[in-house]
Amino acid sequence: MAFPLGAACTVALAAAAGAQGVHAALAQSGSVSADGVARRSSIRLPFDAVLRASNAATTGASNLYQTLAATIQLGTPPVTLSVVLDTGSPSFWVTSALCVQGNGCQAARKQLYNPNKSSTAASTGLVAQRSYGDGTSVQFEIFNDTLSIAGVDVPNQPVGAAVYFKDPTHAATDGLIGLAPPNVRDPVGVFGNLRSAFTRSMVSFYYNRKVISIDASGLVPNAGEITFGEPNRDRMAGEFAWLPINSTAPYWQTVVDSMTVNGVTAQANVQALIDTGTTDAIITPALFALVTRAIGSSLNVTTQVFDCSVAKSLPPITFRMSGMDFLIPWQNQVIVKNGVCYTIFSQGSATEMILGASFQRGFYTTFNFDNSSIGIARLAEDQTGSYDPFEGNMGSTKNGAGRARSGSVAALASLVVALAAGIALL
Ligand SMILES: *[C@@H]1O[C@H](CO)[C@@H](O)[C@H](O)[C@H]1NC(C)=O
Ligand SMILES: *[C@@H]1O[C@H](CO)[C@@H](O)[C@H](O)[C@H]1NC(C)=O
Ligand SMILES: *[C@@H]1O[C@H](CO)[C@@H](O)[C@H](O)[C@H]1NC(C)=O
Ligand SMILES: *[C@@H]1O[C@H](CO)[C@@H](O)[C@H](O)[C@H]1NC(C)=O
Ligand SMILES: *[C@@H]1O[C@H](CO)[C@@H](O)[C@H](O)[C@H]1NC(C)=O
Repeated sequence: MAFPLGAACTVALAAAAGAQGVHAALAQSGSVSADGVARRSSIRLPFDAVLRASNAATTGASNLYQTLAATIQLGTPPVTLSVVLDTGSPSFWVTSALCVQGNGCQAARKQLYNPNKSSTAASTGLVAQRSYGDGTSVQFEIFNDTLSIAGVDVPNQPVGAAVYFKDPTHAATDGLIGLAPPNVRDPVGVFGNLRSAFTRSMVSFYYNRKVISIDASGLVPNAGEITFGEPNRDRMAGEFAWLPINSTAPYWQTVVDSMTVNGVTAQANVQALIDTGTTDAIITPALFALVTRAIGSSLNVTTQVFDCSVAKSLPPITFRMSGMDFLIPWQNQVIVKNGVCYTIFSQGSATEMILGASFQRGFYTTFNFDNSSIGIARLAEDQTGSYDPFEGNMGSTKNGAGRARSGSVAALASLVVALAAGIALL
């Protein structure tokens, strides 16, 4: 279920990146060569978010997907594009002037990438295709071109220019940057190139919990902040707890040992994906039974709605991962939209979990490409104030209360890897 947050506006890349985004000691502004000569400490940019309903029925129900999107520039002269950031898939592609088939080609766009008109584009002559768990399907021709993120130029970045683009979600984005872990090799992967532009190969996410984008009609701005390079220490309290990932899995995948509620522990020992492309915390039936017991009889497990009067007395939940405990207080167990309370938990299979944005938003999270680990830290803002989900949120007001909320939420019960790409299709 959903929720997102954060802080982002589609506009100002440069502003976001500027002085504030680049740590002091850093080299020149503007271009940084990808050969490692001049490396940045970090860049930051806001992201937008929307929770979209999918029509891809995998296990009998449709599913909800979390979209985080940020602004990049591509080519020379640069075109400005809004792309999905997805830790659950490996490829970088955008729709393009070469796109001739599929509803995604026809969508109205502010700017469109045309490799024929980019002086820095070089065709590799390769073609590939990808399909995703939400029904999105794309075929693209691979070019090398200059990618610019928050003022950092990455020359010769391989990118797929779509020739076919089926977009069942009408997501209003122009493409996708996959941020799958480094053990996934992809001819249009980004981080292989991007990492040489920074001193640290890390991508970190901060979610603005005040922004709710469930069932929004489009991307909701200010949903959070993504940082490439050195994590933003201003967002975190203390140090990261590091979770090693499973190096044979194509995802940022670790293990949940157990969960404890009210002194009762349910063992898990199952693989868990930490995925920005999923909204819920999708947990095993045994863990879900504990959550359900704590919430009580008002919970409708289909809609995930429960009685708001119970929310503040929900006991804290402890997740144990890699032998470390992560505490989820009541504030981070509930999403409140238009006065309705939704639990962030839904029930999945007994053999795999997905801890989506609803789980991550209670922490500052980093995906470490240097040593294939996930870092989870407490939020600085929780040290100085107390987040209250019942305080007004932004982003949902213009969406119209009546909009198909129950329909799409009813679909949530099942488990799917959001935006899990088919890899190695080339
Ligand atoms: C791009 O260039 C190719 C090769 O010259 C040509 O076949 C194609 O029609 C051009 N497409 C656009 C949209 O300019
Ligand atoms: C594209 O860039 C890659 C490095 O990112 C390089 O190995 C390859 O030769 C380039 N291909 C073309 C056609 O420029
Ligand atoms: C990964 O790198 C971090 C930061 O350098 C380090 O503290 C941590 O112990 C490493 N984790 C693993 C699993 O190697
Ligand atoms: C790693 O993930 C794969 C695929 O999900 C799984 O089969 C394997 O058991 C996992 N390895 C470990 C050490 O957990
Ligand atoms: C849960 O909510 C759905 C949708 O509003 C409704 O159809 C169903 O009857 C509810 N289930 C229970 C057990 O109240």
